[in-house]
Amino acid sequence: MHDSRETPTRAFVTGFPVRHSRSPKIHGYWLQQFGLAGSYDAVEIEPAGFPNFIVSIKDGSAGFVGGNVTIPHKEQAFALADAPDDLAGELGAANTLFLREGRLCATNTDGYGFLNNLDDRAPGWTDRKYRAVVLGAGGASRAVIQALRDRGFGEIHVLNRTVDRARELADRFGERIHAAPLGALPERLAGADLFVNTTSLGMDDSDSIDIDFSPMRSGALVTDIVYVPLITPILAQATEQDMRIADGLGMLLHQAVPGFETWFGRRPQVTPELRARIIADMESHG
Ligand code: ATR
Repeated sequence: MHDSRETPTRAFVTGFPVRHSRSPKIHGYWLQQFGLAGSYDAVEIEPAGFPNFIVSIKDGSAGFVGGNVTIPHKEQAFALADAPDDLAGELGAANTLFLREGRLCATNTDGYGFLNNLDDRAPGWTDRKYRAVVLGAGGASRAVIQALRDRGFGEIHVLNRTVDRARELADRFGERIHAAPLGALPERLAGADLFVNTTSLGMDDSDSIDIDFSPMRSGALVTDIVYVPLITPILAQATEQDMRIADGLGMLLHQAVPGFETWFGRRPQVTPELRARIIADMESHG
């Protein structure tokens, strides 16, 4: 932990762009709650400038103890870190960096955030772990697949418009992962315990999505990792069909916990008040 008589501990979030990031609000809330003198600021870095930014963290000239990395820097962060852990290694992407004994360590807390959100908002969601269906095979879907596999789901079906991307993930994450095209959705939903959307499908006027969740087992959960809007078109459809749902905002809140604890030495809580504050912020800033 940091001594308050010294320079306050400084952490960052970097992305390009980064102004949409809610992370400064989350960490700022916790810093205030604990009465810590630290800071957590957004730093916008172009992709070409990212390696120099990493150098400035490693040599201490930037004055940061660590920080978060978001799109499009997660892959570079993993590649440039001195000591990525196994989670980041398998994903090929890091979202959390910290200095330890002069080495830049990297991990990925997106899967942790995903699981803790559902533990929090949908108690008992893993009582049955026979089958999960994940829509989308982009960067965000990887952490979800890894997390569900590590939680012990028997089958994880990854459906994607570009089926080759789903196949790549099945190859990467092992034999319990099965790739399929979008058209296979009704069949793969049969008896499923969980449906996860990781795409922007249904969000813009040019596409629409119509999912019949009735083949899922009774009591199954539908979740979306997209949290703007909080109730996505897919969650709205699931609600109309009387499915149990969990929105994705808590993934953002929970993924922030391990980083804060590492940089500032206190373990923060994801509380209803924090959630309400971030929702209010989203409503006022779009
Ligand atoms: P992210 O890192 O947020 O996951 P991404 O890597 O660009 O972003 O992935 C976006 C995901 O949404 C992909 O699975 C993409 O499908 P493709 O791999 O076929 O591109 C999916 N996606 C986005 N818009 C879509 C649409 N209109 N219809 C179907 N899938 C869509």
